[in-house]
Amino acid sequence: MSSPFDNPYRPAPGSLPPELAGREPQISAAHYASGLTQTGGAAQPVVFTGLRGMGKTALLRHSVSAAEDMGAVVLYTEASKEMSLAAALRRSLEHAKAQYASVPAKIKRAFDAAIRALPKATYELPGDGGGITLEARHVEHHEGFVEALETLNAEVRRHDRFLLFAIDEIQDGAINDLRVLVRFVHLTAGTAAPVLLLGAGLPNAPAHLHAVRTYTERWRYSRIGLLERDETIAAIANPATIRGVTFEVDALERLVDETAGYPFFIQEYASAAWTEHRGNRVTLRDVDMIAPGVRSMLESSFYDERFRRLTPRELRYALGMADLGVGPQTVGAIASRLGASSENVSSIRSQLIKKDVVFVPAAGLVEFRMPLTDRYIARHRAQLERRARFYGRREVTKSVDS
Ligand SMILES: Nc1ncnc2c1ncn2[C@@H]1O[C@H](COP(=O)(O)OP(=O)(O)OP(=O)(O)O)[C@@H](O)[C@H]1O
Ligand SMILES: [Mg+2]
Repeated sequence: MSSPFDNPYRPAPGSLPPELAGREPQISAAHYASGLTQTGGAAQPVVFTGLRGMGKTALLRHSVSAAEDMGAVVLYTEASKEMSLAAALRRSLEHAKAQYASVPAKIKRAFDAAIRALPKATYELPGDGGGITLEARHVEHHEGFVEALETLNAEVRRHDRFLLFAIDEIQDGAINDLRVLVRFVHLTAGTAAPVLLLGAGLPNAPAHLHAVRTYTERWRYSRIGLLERDETIAAIANPATIRGVTFEVDALERLVDETAGYPFFIQEYASAAWTEHRGNRVTLRDVDMIAPGVRSMLESSFYDERFRRLTPRELRYALGMADLGVGPQTVGAIASRLGASSENVSSIRSQLIKKDVVFVPAAGLVEFRMPLTDRYIARHRAQLERRARFYGRREVTKSVDS
C-alpha cells in the first residue's frame, strides 16, 4: 500500500502546488523582471492580485525561488494589520541572514546593521489603544534604516547578486511604511544597483499602493483568477501521472465541474480523490465518493458561516448583487436592482464589508470576497430567498405595528 505521504496535492494555504498550472504569463513577467534586475537594469515592480485562494502566495513563492536561482538575496515579508511592517522586515532580515548563511562576511554585517536599525518583532494587540510595542512602530521612524538598506544593497551587488523585496498581503501594509520601501526601490532604479519588488495581494492592492505613491500606477499588476478547463486538468492529472497514476476522463470532468478551476478547491478535491483511490487509477467512483463531503466541508468553511451572520436586508443586497452576474458590480447597478438609491443602501454595503462578504476592489465597485460566491448563492438560492423574505415580512410587520 502506498504511504499517505505520497499524496502529491497541497491543500494548505500558501503551499506550492505540485503543478503551478495556468500562470505562465505571471511567471514570465516575474522572471523577466528578475533577469533584468540581475543584469543591472531597473524593472517595474510586479504585483499579483486576486481573490482569496487563487494562488497569489504560491506564485510569489515560485517567483522568489526562481529569482534566487538567478542570484537574488530575498527579503520576504507578509504585511499584516497586526504587526508593523518594520517588525516584519526585521524578521525577514533575520530569516535571510540565517538562510543565506554562506554569504560573505560583509553582507552578513550589512544584514546585522539593517536588523539593528529596526525594532524587535512584537505583536500588537488589535486596536490602537492596546499596542504593546515599546519602540516606534513605523519604518519611517527608524533613522538609519534606509542607509542600512543602501549598504546592504551595495554589498549584495558587489558580490554579483541583487536585492529583492517580496511582500505578500501588500494591501495590509501601512501606507507610511510602504512609502519608505517604495521610495527606496524607486531611487535605486536610477542607479547601477536596482532593487526589485515583487508583491501579492487582494484586488484592492493597486488602489492601496496608489495612495502610497502615484507612480505605483505604472507597476505591473496582474490579476489571477480561476483556471481554464485544460489548466485545471493539468493541475490535477500531471502530478498523478508522474507517480504512475491516471485519472479516468469522467473523473477529471467531474472534478472540473466541482472545482470550477478554483486553485484552492482543486487541491482539496484532488487530495481527497487521491486518498480514496486504489491501485494506479483514480476512477469516477472515487470522485463521486469524496465529492459530497469535500463540497460540504468547503461550503461550510468558505460561505455558510458568513451568510448565516447576514440580516435579511444584507441578504437581499447579496442576492441582488449576484443577480447582476460574476465579478465586480457598480454600487449604482446594485442599488437600482434593489429599487433603491445608492445612498439608501450604502449602510448595508458597509455592513457586508465588515462581515467580510464583499469588498471594494476600486472606487464605486463592490465584489464578493470569496471566489465562487455566485455559485454558492445559485445552489442555495431558494433557502437564502426564504430567509430574506421571511424576515423581510417580519421587519415590515414590525414597522407597521410600531
Ligand atoms: N496555479 C495553481 N494550480 C493549482 N493549484 C494552485 C495553483 N496556485 C495555487 N494553488 C493551490 O491553491 C491553494 C491556494 O493558494 P495560495 O495560498 O497561494 O492562494 P492565495 O491567493 O495566496 O490565497 P490567500 O488570499 O488566502 O492568501 C494552495 O493549496 C495552492 O497549493
Ligand atoms: Mg496568500
